[in-house]
Amino acid sequence: CFEGVQQAPPDPILGITDGFLKDTSPQKLNLGVGAYRTEEGRPLVLSAVRKAERMVVDDATRNKEYIPMGGNPQFCALSAALAFGPDSDCSREGRLATLQALSGTGALAVGGAFLARHYQASKAIYLPVPTWGNHHGVFGSAGLVVRPYRYYHAPTRALDYAGLIADLGAAEPGAIVLLHACAHNPTGVDPSPEQWRGILRVVQERRLLPFFDSAYQGFASGDLDADAAALRLFASARGPGGRPQELLLAQSFAKNMGLYGERVGALHVIAACPQVRGRVESQVKIAVRQMYSSPPIHGAAVATAVMANPALSAEWQAELASMAGRIKAMRAALVAALAEAGAPGSWDHITSQIGMFSYTGLTKEQCIHLRDKWHIYMTLDGRISMAGVSHKRVRYLADAIADAVRN
Ligand code: LMR
Repeated sequence: CFEGVQQAPPDPILGITDGFLKDTSPQKLNLGVGAYRTEEGRPLVLSAVRKAERMVVDDATRNKEYIPMGGNPQFCALSAALAFGPDSDCSREGRLATLQALSGTGALAVGGAFLARHYQASKAIYLPVPTWGNHHGVFGSAGLVVRPYRYYHAPTRALDYAGLIADLGAAEPGAIVLLHACAHNPTGVDPSPEQWRGILRVVQERRLLPFFDSAYQGFASGDLDADAAALRLFASARGPGGRPQELLLAQSFAKNMGLYGERVGALHVIAACPQVRGRVESQVKIAVRQMYSSPPIHGAAVATAVMANPALSAEWQAELASMAGRIKAMRAALVAALAEAGAPGSWDHITSQIGMFSYTGLTKEQCIHLRDKWHIYMTLDGRISMAGVSHKRVRYLADAIADAVRN
């Protein structure tokens, strides 16, 4: 019987929404989960997505048959082009395996399971400190051994580049290293282009295997190509003797296409040669078959219709730039409102960080104060989803932060 089952703790991110929903205050504000909100505080279905969805639903040639274990081939090809560029070496040389996945988390889980079973060099995966909380659980339960590497330097609210290089430089040779492709979650602090080149150098020296997590392509700068620059630097790199750099990528369409609950994403694996790519792909398919057999049709068909149609794709990219622009405007508005509210300390980091989140520097106690007194919900590490901020509520938030910092 189940008598011995212990109550699980609430999820540190998704559990915040449960608390928010139970709160009856009209003032309540949810800055927990990273999901885009309009100025009115409502979820947004992109207009390009609505149009694509209508096309998919009206297409009488479609049926509901199972799709292959690797997913919708057109979706895979378009997702790969989005991530690596339309004419990438890895794709042209037949070294890229792409499989549709259950959004970014599903791609991480399938990639983790594949590595735990078939990657011989090491079972260690190095995660930045801090990182998206779920990385620990996903990779741990896949059977990998999770290790930390320094990333964020709290006193300067910047990248701890020296610590990062020292830790990766001392990593077990061949180990896996998780890298956020852009808009690091939760800190909003990314390496500069020069620092990325330094990270690539240490990855090559230690023969580390990069596993990129790309959940915010387009959300950091508003530009899909600019946000893929670090990933493409690694994907096109060659090691000693011209050997291509191998890597994995978990790609999510949750945020940049607003397809959160549709679970649309892909797992990409770049291998050194086409023969290895074929063997890798065959093993990843087995992991998929054993976990959920084959991926769902609808969300990927919608994303495909957006990406394959030049007009819809242009409309999508304009909407993406406008979401990223609203978030940037909210960063500036929050810094201005904090100054007006007389919040002690410097808040410039809010505008220098990028992506969907700001890592405010608020302590756990201050986050609890914001929740209990002001009905403002955020993760207890001080992360706020900037997408949940609006012109209407920014002064309320600033007053609350000023109050929390003073108390
Ligand atoms: C977040 O970090 O808030 C998002 O990635 C949503 C999630 O699943 O945690």
